[in-house]
Amino acid sequence: MQPSTDVAIPCRVLDSKDVYGFLFERDSDTGGHIGYAVSRIVDKDKVPSGQLMVFTRETEGMMRKGQDWRSWVGPVERYDITGANQFRVMVNEGLRESHEMLDIGCGSLRGGRFFILYLGTHGYHGIEPEEWLVKEGIKYETGDGLIQFKLPAFEYAKDFGFGRFGHDFDYLLAQSIFTHTSVVETNLCLSEAVNVMHDKSVFIANFEESSDATRINFDGWKECNQLTYGYFSGLAAKHGLSMKRLDYPHPSGLKWVRMEKV
Ligand SMILES: C[S@@+](CC[C@H](N)C(=O)[O-])C[C@H]1O[C@@H](n2cnc3c(N)ncnc32)[C@H](O)[C@@H]1O
Repeated sequence: MQPSTDVAIPCRVLDSKDVYGFLFERDSDTGGHIGYAVSRIVDKDKVPSGQLMVFTRETEGMMRKGQDWRSWVGPVERYDITGANQFRVMVNEGLRESHEMLDIGCGSLRGGRFFILYLGTHGYHGIEPEEWLVKEGIKYETGDGLIQFKLPAFEYAKDFGFGRFGHDFDYLLAQSIFTHTSVVETNLCLSEAVNVMHDKSVFIANFEESSDATRINFDGWKECNQLTYGYFSGLAAKHGLSMKRLDYPHPSGLKWVRMEKV
């Protein structure tokens, strides 16, 4: 008999009896990804005719909005390398353990877990509208011990109000943020970033490059947004930032740039 706390969601049934891991499917409506965290199939034999899987209550938090803390931020099969890639770029571009770093849209700490470990106490700052995502990142990626040891700071907001942290940053990161923002949000993010940058601050970001028309004219957050380099560097220039291309690969083909105050 299934415990009363079980939840059922529609998805494909897998063959194996106990599955630990993730189901990952393409959403045909949005073109985005929907991921389901699976901790345990309670009783596969009771699953009716191939359309339902039964999950234990432990996974409920992970399935909020139909997504878990890993798939919320991108393809789960590249979660590891996408975290490591951003750490590599930042360190190659000069991030050192003594620096104060701001991680814009830090999500579930895909990259944050490496930065928190590397930076000194109080060195890491993450801002993210989805509080549950950070909380589950701490629970499942870093553990409380690392958080208590390094004391990173988190703010839960979507207004790009980086001034909340009360000081400037040596390094800023926007990894897979300008791949989603509208022109209004992109401008807001850049202007707020400039306000927390000193003369030597470095702002590392990436974007999905398109060679033709810029597709940024929409409201709010979008599954995937493409920019021309010229358009993006022009926006940065409006905010007093010079932009330079960086030649690092990215697991999803995004293009890296480095911005500094002119
Ligand atoms: C593609 S994910 C990238 C997360 C993280 N940078 C990483 O690489 O794992 C985009 C993140 O931006 C967050 N986000 C959405 N709107 C935002 C906003 N207005 N300000 C900051 N972050 C936002 C999303 O919740 C999500 O965590």
